[in-house]
Amino acid sequence: MGKITARVSRYEGIADWYDGVMNDPGKRGGLKNRSHDLLEELLGKGEGLALDIGCGTGIVAERVRNLGYSPVGVDLSADQLKIASGRLPVAQADVTNLPIASNSIPVVYTTFTTTEYDDLQGVINEIYRVLKPGGRYVEIGTHPCFNGGYAEIQADGSVIQHPGYRSSHYLQPSHFNSPIRGRVGAWNRPLEDILNTILNAGFRLDRVAEGGEKDLPDILGIVAVKDKGEN
Ligand SMILES: C[S@@+](CC[C@H](N)C(=O)[O-])C[C@H]1O[C@@H](n2cnc3c(N)ncnc32)[C@H](O)[C@@H]1O
Repeated sequence: MGKITARVSRYEGIADWYDGVMNDPGKRGGLKNRSHDLLEELLGKGEGLALDIGCGTGIVAERVRNLGYSPVGVDLSADQLKIASGRLPVAQADVTNLPIASNSIPVVYTTFTTTEYDDLQGVINEIYRVLKPGGRYVEIGTHPCFNGGYAEIQADGSVIQHPGYRSSHYLQPSHFNSPIRGRVGAWNRPLEDILNTILNAGFRLDRVAEGGEKDLPDILGIVAVKDKGEN
C-alpha cells in the first residue's frame, strides 16, 4: 500500500521531539487534548475504516479506536510514521496522491494539518475522491482567525491581531514564537479559504464547531459530507 514520493515533510527527523511537545501539558498537551475532545464529539461513535490523513505520530489513534472505528494513518514523513506504526496501521504517502481506490473509504479525519499542506485544495480534492458517497470528512485544526499566523494569543486569552490575515501563504519558522511553528513554520490560511477549498471539492458542509476553553476559540472543527450520487 505504501507509496514513497520525492517530497519531504517539514516534520522529517523531529518525530520524537514533536510527539513529546504534543504530549507535554506545559507545551501543546492542552491544545491537543481539547482538539481530541472535539474530534471525538464530531466523529461520534461508529465503526469501519477511518483514514487519518497527515497522521503524524498517530497520537489520536487510540481515542478513535475507542469510538469503535478502525483507524489507518497516512503521512509523508517516514520518521513520524515510525512512532505511528506502534499506534495504528500506516502507509507512507503524499495525501495529494493517495494510493487508495476512489469511493472506498467511509470516514476520513485529520488533526492539525490545514496549516501544513502546501496544496490544500489538492488534498481536499483527493479526500473527496477516496470517500464513499455518503462518507464524512472531519477536520480539526487551529482556528485560522484566533490562532492563525497573525494572531498573538495573550496569557489572559485575548488575542492581538497583526496585519496579514487575508491571504494564504507559508510563514517561515522565524515568524513565530511558539514551540512547533517556531521550528517548522506554518501556512496562514484565512477562514474563507479553508471553507471554500472544502466546498470547491464538492463537499456539503454539515457542521462547523469552534473549540477552546477561553472566550476566543483556538480550534476549528468542520464536518463535511460527500453526498450520495456524487462521484
Ligand atoms: C502538525 S503535524 C500533525 C500530525 C498529527 N495529525 C497530529 O495531530 O499530531 C502535520 C503532519 O502532516 C504531514 N504532512 C504534511 N504535508 C503532507 C502531505 N502532503 N502528505 C502527507 N502528510 C503530510 C506532516 O508530515 C506531519 O506529520
